[in-house]
Amino acid sequence: EPPTTIGLPVVLIGPMGAGKSRVGARLAASVGAPFIDTDARVEGRYGPIDQIFTREGEEYFRIVERELVAEALHAEAVISLGGGAVLHADTRRDLADLPVVWLQVSADAVAARLAGGNRPLLAGGGLTRWTAIQEERAPVYASLADLTIDTSRRSVARIVEQITEHF
Ligand code: S3P
Repeated sequence: EPPTTIGLPVVLIGPMGAGKSRVGARLAASVGAPFIDTDARVEGRYGPIDQIFTREGEEYFRIVERELVAEALHAEAVISLGGGAVLHADTRRDLADLPVVWLQVSADAVAARLAGGNRPLLAGGGLTRWTAIQEERAPVYASLADLTIDTSRRSVARIVEQITEHF
């Protein structure tokens, strides 16, 4: 069989715990593309995200996040965005012209995945907060998505297959 190819970039969006980083890394490997995780890029330049939230606040985080997202979107790569990156209007405008996958996940599945994690937005309210954030952002994700996949009960391999079949 010939190697699978897809048009690049492909951008993964969706809430915390939907599997954007895991799926993105596996998708990139399977099509021989670079993988860019914008959270990792932010941390590489500015340090741990939870510290940015604590010291400078979320508004500052969104500004530096936008800077790294804007750089990433120029690359021929698989790109996974932080869950809140779509809050920035410039990012929404950029994504309107790009192939975008919305990875969804149920609250039940996310509870298991995010246990013990290091996510500042979940620090206080846990799953209740996650659900509120997800419901607020769902219409934004929906408006940007060319393909929507519920990752709750699917293997990473199957999700990667669905993405490569679609694009
Ligand atoms: C955030 C999601 C995180 C990270 C930051 C804020 C959000 O990324 O960017 O903690 O606002 O949903 P992941 O979606 O990769 O967890």
